[in-house]
Amino acid sequence: MTTSQTTVANKLPEKKALNWAELGFSYQPTEYRFRAIHKDGKWSEGELITSDMISVHEGAPALHYAQQCFEGLKAQTAPDGRVLLFRPELNAERMRQAAGRLLMPEVPEALFIRGVEEAVRANYAWIPPHGSGASLYIRPMLIGVGQNLGLKTAKEFEFRVFVSPVGPYYKSAGLAVISLAVSELDRAAPAGTGNFKIGANYAGGLLATRLAQELGANEALFLDARERRYIDEAGSANIVVAMTGGRFVTPGSSAVLPSVTRRSVMTLAENEMGLKTEQRAIDLRKEISEFEEVAACGTAAVISPVGRIYVDGQWHGFYKNGEEAGPVMQKVYQLLVGIQRGEIADKYHWTHNVSL
Ligand code: PLP
Ligand code: COI
Repeated sequence: MTTSQTTVANKLPEKKALNWAELGFSYQPTEYRFRAIHKDGKWSEGELITSDMISVHEGAPALHYAQQCFEGLKAQTAPDGRVLLFRPELNAERMRQAAGRLLMPEVPEALFIRGVEEAVRANYAWIPPHGSGASLYIRPMLIGVGQNLGLKTAKEFEFRVFVSPVGPYYKSAGLAVISLAVSELDRAAPAGTGNFKIGANYAGGLLATRLAQELGANEALFLDARERRYIDEAGSANIVVAMTGGRFVTPGSSAVLPSVTRRSVMTLAENEMGLKTEQRAIDLRKEISEFEEVAACGTAAVISPVGRIYVDGQWHGFYKNGEEAGPVMQKVYQLLVGIQRGEIADKYHWTHNVSL
C-alpha cells in the first residue's frame, strides 16, 4: 500500500468484525439509511437517518394496492480499496420506468445516485472487504404513503435506500449449481407489469417458489402466460442459455425484468467470448435438447448455473447432469465478477466509484 492510500485508509471507520465469508442473503441491520419525501409535487433534499422503521398511515396505497417499486444493486470493494457500484444509472432508469407505470413521481437520477452513494458511504464499516466473497446489497425503494381509501394514487411518497452486507443468494458459496421447476402458475401477463421491478410481481411468485421447492428445486421457472411454452424467467433472476453451435440465448419476452446483469452478460458473451448472442423466444420443450448450459442471472443470483430443470414431471439435466458448472457459465461469471470487483479492466465503463 502506498503512503497516500494508507493515509486515506486511516481516516475511514474500522470494518465491522463480521464473519463475511459466512454471510447468506438476509437482512443485517446497518447504521444509516437515506430517505427523501415527495410531497406537494416536489422532492425533499433527502437525508441520512438511523431508524430502520417506516411509520405509514393505515390507508397507505403501498400497503393496500401495492403502489411501490424497488431496486437491487451491490457495492463491492476493489483490490485497491475503492468502493464500486455496477451500472447504477440503469437501476435509476428502471425505477423511473416503474414509477411511471404505477403513477408515482419519478426519482430523478441525481437523487437516486446520491441516495445510494450516501447510504453506502455512511455504512462504510459494513462494506465487505475485497476477497471476502461478500458484497453490500443496496435496496432503493419508492412507496406510496399517506391517508387513502379508494383505488387512487398516493399523495405522498417516500424514497428510501437501505443497505445490508450479503453473501450468496443460494446456499452454497461461489458458483453454486441450482435447479428450477417449471411453474404451473403465471408470473406476469404479456402487457402486464412483469418488466417492472414492483413488489406486486413478487407476492404472486411466493407460492410458485414454495411449490418448486417442494419438488426439490431452488426456484420456479415461469413460462410465458399466453401459451406456457416459451421461457420467461425465474422468480428472482433472468435466464441465459448456452446452446449448441456456440449460441448464447436469452428470452425475448416483454414480461421479464430487464436485468442489468443479463444485459451485461450478453455483451460479455458476444464481445469477450465470441458467442453468437440471440434475444428471442425460447420454446422450452422443443429446444431443451439443444441446451448445453443454463444459468439464472441477477444482482442477488449473480450467475447461478442451472444444472437441472423439472418440466412436465421429468428432470432434464445439463452439463454433466448438473453436477458442476460448465465452462461457458464459469467464464461469463469470471468476466462479470472480475469487472464488478475491479479485478479486471473495466473497458465498458460499467463501474461507478463511490467517493469515500
Ligand atoms: N428478474 C427478476 C424477477 C428479479 O427480481 C431480478 C433481480 O433484480 C432480476 C431478474 C435480475 O435483475 P438485475 O440483474 O438487474 O438484478
Ligand atoms: C435482486 O437480485 O436484486 C433482487 O431484487 C432479487 C430479490 C428477489 C432478492
